[in-house]
Amino acid sequence: MSDELLGKVAIITGGASGIGREMVDLFLEEGAQVVAADINATAGEAMADELGEDFAFVRTDVTKDGDLESLVAATVDRFERLDVMVNNAGAVGEPSGLLDLDADGFSRTMDLLARSVLLGHKHAGRQMKKQGTGGSIVSLSSIASIRGGFAAPSYDAAKAAVLQVARTATFELAEFGIRSNIVMPGMTRTPIMARGTALDPSRYDDFVEALREPFAEFHPLGRGGDPRDIANAALFFASDRSSFITGQSLTVDGGLTSVFTHDLGGVVGKAFAIMGVTDVDPSFGSAARG
Ligand SMILES: NC(=O)c1ccc[n+]([C@@H]2O[C@H](COP(=O)([O-])OP(=O)(O)OC[C@H]3O[C@@H](n4cnc5c(N)ncnc54)[C@H](O)[C@@H]3O)[C@@H](O)[C@H]2O)c1
Repeated sequence: MSDELLGKVAIITGGASGIGREMVDLFLEEGAQVVAADINATAGEAMADELGEDFAFVRTDVTKDGDLESLVAATVDRFERLDVMVNNAGAVGEPSGLLDLDADGFSRTMDLLARSVLLGHKHAGRQMKKQGTGGSIVSLSSIASIRGGFAAPSYDAAKAAVLQVARTATFELAEFGIRSNIVMPGMTRTPIMARGTALDPSRYDDFVEALREPFAEFHPLGRGGDPRDIANAALFFASDRSSFITGQSLTVDGGLTSVFTHDLGGVVGKAFAIMGVTDVDPSFGSAARG
């Protein structure tokens, strides 16, 4: 513990599971007073029994404007201020592809993943402006916002919208010292993908553990993301260490979106074979890399 957030009050939406749950633990370790907001009241109330005086749970549906307004009010009521707002709650949302798109499902996904982030900025921003001491808003996008194929189009579109919210917020909120930044997780070991299936929730912990091996196979760093990896990035944006950074996004994906995974030497070799060239080594890339 290094008290990076000592004296700060933080809200974490979606704080009852996965990445949000890990943020709750890390922010408490770093000295913050923390309010977890989640639609899952059973899990949230169990956390309240466990985590002590610096923690509170407020049952919140982030798709509802009024719930987010009440959440900020309840936070100020309990801890007297708000310094950090983390817009993290989410789910995989509408699964249909482009050609079969369920338009209502798309709208519900946008409400959950994008509109909620705007509303989070609205209510947290109002309170932070009123306090007059600035603040930090951190929102969760995804690598699915910049690459096709990781998720369904509704999720991709909503997460891409989140990226622009931080720039808009910078335009409107910077004059009040309120910063807004984005964390873009890669494949992170949480139950989120199992929630979209019929798997019994009692097996979610097993699922999270079982993801280690398949995730390891395609990440340059040799493993998938742990919730703590994402929480650490959120901590950086929440803390004063990032005090001159706003409107930015940080990708936390073990290098997944930074590498070209196809065998370019094989492509060159095939072209050589088509040309009838058999006496030239096509592996220029691997030769250059040593
Ligand atoms: N896990 C990944 O690989 C990954 C990758 C990229 C982005 N993300 C994003 O990270 C965030 C956290 O996801 P996670 O992997 O921890 O998932 P998770 O399923 O473990 O946790 C999500 C939490 O959000 C809550 N929630 C869902 N709908 C809500 C609503 N309407 N109101 C309030 N709370 C609600 C759930 O109850 C749950 O506690 C999400 O925004 C997700 O899109 C996750």
